[in-house]
Amino acid sequence: TEKFAVIGHPIEHSKSPLIHQAFARQFGKTMTYEKLLAPLDGFAATIKQLQLEGYRGVNVTVPFKFEAFEVSQTLSERATAAGAVNTLSFQGGHISGDNTDGCGLVNDILKHWQRTIDGQKVLLLGAGGAAQGVILPLLAQQPAVLTVANRSLDKAQAMVDCFKADAQLHQVSLTVQTFDELSEGYDVVINATSAGLQAEALPVSDTIFYAHSLAYDMMYGRETLFMQQAHAAGAQVADGLGMLVEQAAEAFYLWHGVRPETAPVIQSLRLS
Ligand code: ATR
Repeated sequence: TEKFAVIGHPIEHSKSPLIHQAFARQFGKTMTYEKLLAPLDGFAATIKQLQLEGYRGVNVTVPFKFEAFEVSQTLSERATAAGAVNTLSFQGGHISGDNTDGCGLVNDILKHWQRTIDGQKVLLLGAGGAAQGVILPLLAQQPAVLTVANRSLDKAQAMVDCFKADAQLHQVSLTVQTFDELSEGYDVVINATSAGLQAEALPVSDTIFYAHSLAYDMMYGRETLFMQQAHAAGAQVADGLGMLVEQAAEAFYLWHGVRPETAPVIQSLRLS
């Protein structure tokens, strides 16, 4: 049987084994998919060991996505753009790295929230690893406007500067703002900050939400202050659970060459 794993630190909370096994059952496939806690200073050594043991691939989560980028011998375009890797594939002695997070976000918005991004005004809050991970797939959807807002403007500006050519290619007006400069409404607002982890509110005006807006928080598991604010402002609110399942589906496709159904898996995770 083929062997897979998800590696992180911490890892106990990971739903990836459940999700990948649910996908595998759809195709009558048997495989192993474990949770692996790598020591904080032992990511590369763990990867080497798994490769020797004949693993086919691994998913990588916090805090190892940048190290996974480093150990990759070849990188997909979207991994290069993200500067981070969440999916490693082992072929013989070769390690290839990809990043399915942005694709997961976009597919969740299109398929499960039934929104288009094409031609829309999109606001991305945050300029850290999570935001950089999704920016190229968002641009490829050709929104009319993509505004990146962040607490520190420098960081947002530096990130956006790297995507000027992609924005031009996809004819997107890509701009940067501070939180307090925001006032106009957006069709889709995506929270990619980690403020929710500290239960901190973002200093953003309610006027960024239209009644028809989709407010998407990349976190899942509990309602963040961002989600509460968006809800109170009348927007439709999404958490990151669908993104989690969709990024896994794309990784599953990379490894197995088939596309699983995601809706029933999202639904069963919501109920559990
Ligand atoms: P991640 O991988 O989750 O993106 P990160 O790279 O540390 O983690 O980035 C965290 C992001 O959340 C950044 O955009 C950060 O803003 P700064 O660049 O100004 O630091 C943002 N962030 C974290 N805590 C925040 C808070 N309390 N209020 C506003 N933004 C916050």
